[in-house]
Amino acid sequence: MVVLHQCSLVRSWLLRLILLHTACEMGRGQLHYSVAEESQHGTFVGHIAQDLGLEVGDLMPRMFRMVSQGRRDYLEVNLQNGILFVNSRIDREELCTKMPVCTINLEVILENPLRVFHVEVEIKDINDNAPVFPAAEQTLVIAESVSPGSSFPLEGASDDDVGSNSHVSYKISPNEHFTLDFQNNDEHATDGGKPQQTGTVHIVINVLDANDNGPVFNQSVYKIKLLENATVGTLIVSLNATDLDEGINKDIMYSMRTVNPQNVGELISLDPKTGQIRLNGELDFESITSAEIGIEATDKGLPPIKGHCKVLIEVLDVNDNAPEVTVSSLSVPVPENSSPGTVVALISISDRDSGANGQVTCSLWPSGLPFKLTSTFKNYYSLVLAEPLDREQVAEYSLVLIAQDQGDPPLTASSSVVVPISDVNDNAPTFAQPSYTVFVRENNPPGAHIFTVSASDPDVAENALVSYWLDEKLWPLSSYISVHSESGKLYALQPLDYEEMKLLEFQVRAKDAGLPSLCGNVTVQVFVLDENDNAPAVSGLAEDTPIQVKVPVAAGHLVGKIHALDGDSGYNAWLRYELFDASSGPWRVGLYSGEISTTRALEESEGNIIQSLLVLVKDHGNPALSTTATFSVSLVASAQAVQSDAHLSRMGGSRKPLADTANLYLIIAICSVSSLFLLVILSR
Ligand SMILES: *[C@@H]1O[C@H](CO)[C@@H](O)[C@H](O)[C@H]1NC(C)=O
Ligand SMILES: *[C@@H]1O[C@H](CO)[C@@H](O)[C@H](O)[C@H]1NC(C)=O
Ligand SMILES: *[C@@H]1O[C@H](CO)[C@@H](O)[C@H](O)[C@H]1NC(C)=O
Ligand SMILES: *[C@@H]1O[C@H](CO)[C@@H](O)[C@H](O)[C@H]1NC(C)=O
Repeated sequence: MVVLHQCSLVRSWLLRLILLHTACEMGRGQLHYSVAEESQHGTFVGHIAQDLGLEVGDLMPRMFRMVSQGRRDYLEVNLQNGILFVNSRIDREELCTKMPVCTINLEVILENPLRVFHVEVEIKDINDNAPVFPAAEQTLVIAESVSPGSSFPLEGASDDDVGSNSHVSYKISPNEHFTLDFQNNDEHATDGGKPQQTGTVHIVINVLDANDNGPVFNQSVYKIKLLENATVGTLIVSLNATDLDEGINKDIMYSMRTVNPQNVGELISLDPKTGQIRLNGELDFESITSAEIGIEATDKGLPPIKGHCKVLIEVLDVNDNAPEVTVSSLSVPVPENSSPGTVVALISISDRDSGANGQVTCSLWPSGLPFKLTSTFKNYYSLVLAEPLDREQVAEYSLVLIAQDQGDPPLTASSSVVVPISDVNDNAPTFAQPSYTVFVRENNPPGAHIFTVSASDPDVAENALVSYWLDEKLWPLSSYISVHSESGKLYALQPLDYEEMKLLEFQVRAKDAGLPSLCGNVTVQVFVLDENDNAPAVSGLAEDTPIQVKVPVAAGHLVGKIHALDGDSGYNAWLRYELFDASSGPWRVGLYSGEISTTRALEESEGNIIQSLLVLVKDHGNPALSTTATFSVSLVASAQAVQSDAHLSRMGGSRKPLADTANLYLIIAICSVSSLFLLVILSR
């Protein structure tokens, strides 16, 4: 390949040499044509044959031909008529760049004889190129402080055309800040061709900032209200300072300059970049109520400029402290006879919160107790007795003091107070009944325990320590009865005898050991119950002098009457009579009347007999007691009767009413004893 290439080079060089040589020999024929660049194929350039004075008919025979000097075949000649025309598109700028004159040189050759003619075709420029800026956009950096009139060089545009087509003028788009100054140069460039071609460049002007603005807070004072229970990390405030500068001149750093009070500094933090102030610790309204913080904002310009603001934080109280109740002095126990108004305890209340959260009201629970609270001065109370007390009803009070603040929600505290009530001897010993009825059988052993009285005293200790004694003011019975002072046992000192004393009535008194002591009394009635300790006794019966009965008598004839008495009473004294030996004669005795009468008629023949009748007199006691009486009857015939009648009328006449009356009394006594029994049983 390399060799071949060299061969062709050598050949063309040789050819050129020969041609030059022949041109010199044949004499100089010179033709000059011009054609505009970019002309279409076939555009006429020149009439070579005619201009060379050649006959058209000669051209072919003389081997008319054209040789171009190594150029592409821009131009071509018609070998029959010798006319030169454009063969292919000619770009002057490509062919000759910026050369002012652009020509294509051609040789025309004829033979027989050999003639060589030189043809020069000038390629004329047309304005087919617009001015071109080196870049579509140019950037200028200008400090904002630069003074008017300063100039800033720009790169101009270039035009590939030549001559006036390449003459460039500039224009700038309308604006208020810049004008264009150029020597044959322009921003908005126009060439001198017709029609004009234009090129455009965008000029970007960056105005450099100078730090001529300081940071400005959007508020000079930030007033913040913060609950004291705000959690750690709470955003307190977002500070907002802005700087009208640009770049780092508007970059702001925040810092705390002053913190008042100082310890708040540990509780808050300031983000230097965002200006956010956050809570860093726990607030306590009770120690910090407000804070004032001086803030500085600094930009990063050189030199930096500062702006200031103030943050005022008001800490709001939250009801985070419960009230406290202190019972400072308690006078207990309280005697039950204390008068209303007596101070029992002093109470003080406190609450560390402020405002309503620290306002405390104190109350008593449960209600209805005989106590009340009176406020002595702010947050001090007295627990005062409101009503009379009675230890015997309530011996101890449990109170709860409740303190409640006015917060929302309110907090409460309570304290229990126990108030014991001490006894005062205000109760006398009392017996369960105003009187007691006691039944005691007569003939008791000496010192027998017959009854026990008991008085109760609701007081306590010695105020309730009861002792008993017999009150002898009314009835001096100390020889019969004694009372045990501690136990209240009643003793009969000697055997009681119903027949002597049926009722003992006395008063037992009871007193407590209080100071002064109080007394109570009770009436005791001791009924002595009868025992069958007396046998019947027959009275007024002369056993030696028999009663004379004048026979004959009819059956049922009353002979006489036995009269007996019994010291006892009731059944014990209710007597019955019977004949010891009922079969021993014609006699009978009235069972209760004691009257002796005949069971059958007695004849005169039975006269002059003296008969002894043994009569048994028995009471109704259990066991029954009895006695016997001998009753003598002498039967006399009617001759002796006068004397006997007289005797009988003396004896029997006087006895009969007596015996009847005695029996009547007996029945009444029995009835009355029985009804007494009934009364006692009913009254128990
Ligand atoms: C702070 O207290 C207020 C009022 O008592 C309550 O509403 C709120 O929930 C509390 N906040 C916190 C974080 O405890
Ligand atoms: C600061 O305030 C300006 C104007 O008041 C506002 O445009 C900007 O968003 C605020 N910045 C912040 C961080 O809130
Ligand atoms: C100031 O800026 C802060 C944060 O952006 C915003 O919360 C506040 O409302 C602004 N103050 C004013 C007066 O615009
Ligand atoms: C006995 O007690 C009654 C009340 O129970 C009282 O009225 C009376 O005065 C007392 N008698 C004496 C002597 O104290």
